[in-house]
Amino acid sequence: MKQGLFELISNEKIAKDVYRMVLCGDVSAITAPGQFVNIKLEGRFLRRPISVCDLDGSADRLTLVYKTVGGGTRQMAEMTPGAVLDLLSGLGNGFDVERSGARPLLVGGGVGTPPMLLLCRRLVARGARPIAVTGFGSADEVFLSDELRDAGAEVIVATMDGSAGVKGLVTDAMTGLEYTYFYACGPEAMLRAVDAAAPESVAGELSFEERMGCGFGACMGCSCETKYGAKRICKDGPVLRREEIIW
Ligand SMILES: Cc1cc2nc3c(=O)[nH]c(=O)nc-3n(C[C@H](O)[C@H](O)[C@H](O)COP(=O)(O)OP(=O)(O)OC[C@H]3O[C@@H](n4cnc5c(N)ncnc54)[C@H](O)[C@@H]3O)c2cc1C
Ligand code: FES
Repeated sequence: MKQGLFELISNEKIAKDVYRMVLCGDVSAITAPGQFVNIKLEGRFLRRPISVCDLDGSADRLTLVYKTVGGGTRQMAEMTPGAVLDLLSGLGNGFDVERSGARPLLVGGGVGTPPMLLLCRRLVARGARPIAVTGFGSADEVFLSDELRDAGAEVIVATMDGSAGVKGLVTDAMTGLEYTYFYACGPEAMLRAVDAAAPESVAGELSFEERMGCGFGACMGCSCETKYGAKRICKDGPVLRREEIIW
């Protein structure tokens, strides 16, 4: 983990209530897709955790994609290029790309989609051919489909109202797919449904968006029970292996 100052390069709206923020700073502590940063915001006691969406280590660029849901994320959306943000970076364990096999399935629900982009890049670089299933409420909420496709994934979008892609949940879009491993990030109800829909013979990893205090393992505010004992979602997670989760 590293604390550092990052300069805001751009901050643009990419879908309904969703923004993409590109930052420049020392990204050396970020080692795996699925890790997150914790952002300090003026006037707010707790930092806000946001997943690493994309990374360009050679240019020290970090991309975050976030949805405005409350005061902190609305404050982020109002920031303009040149602003300086205090970040804790390289937090969490991240996804294990070595376990993917040749045809991994990536499942992102809403703001669980951003970490799938860097994960996709890393898997493709290792020779895998990922399938990305992303789920949203409606067409105006869909984001990162082109980026995932450009990164080498076969992309299937699901929307609840059927205004884009498959009508229904990500699990409806998963029907009939064959995959060697799965990675999922999204609301807990979605993670539970993805776990139930995946064949028992296929292993996987699920990333939890737990509410957090410190974000780096010190306060025990994010502790959860697993088959291998208590774990802190911020430090031992946010990614847990399928076989260790107690639903
Ligand atoms: C590991 C991790 C990765 C995340 N990645 C992303 C991402 O890439 N894009 C994105 O849009 N959102 C992401 N979230 C959710 C994001 O952290 C919250 O939406 C955000 O903190 C809300 O802050 P707020 O001030 O706008 O909302 P408020 O509701 O006013 O926040 C109040 C408090 O609750 C916490 N909180 C609220 N909602 C959540 C939530 N869903 N998860 C965790 N803490 C929450 C806030 O951090 C804050 O401490 C992630 C959460 C975690 C834990
Ligand atoms: S949020 Fe403090 S230990 Fe996880």
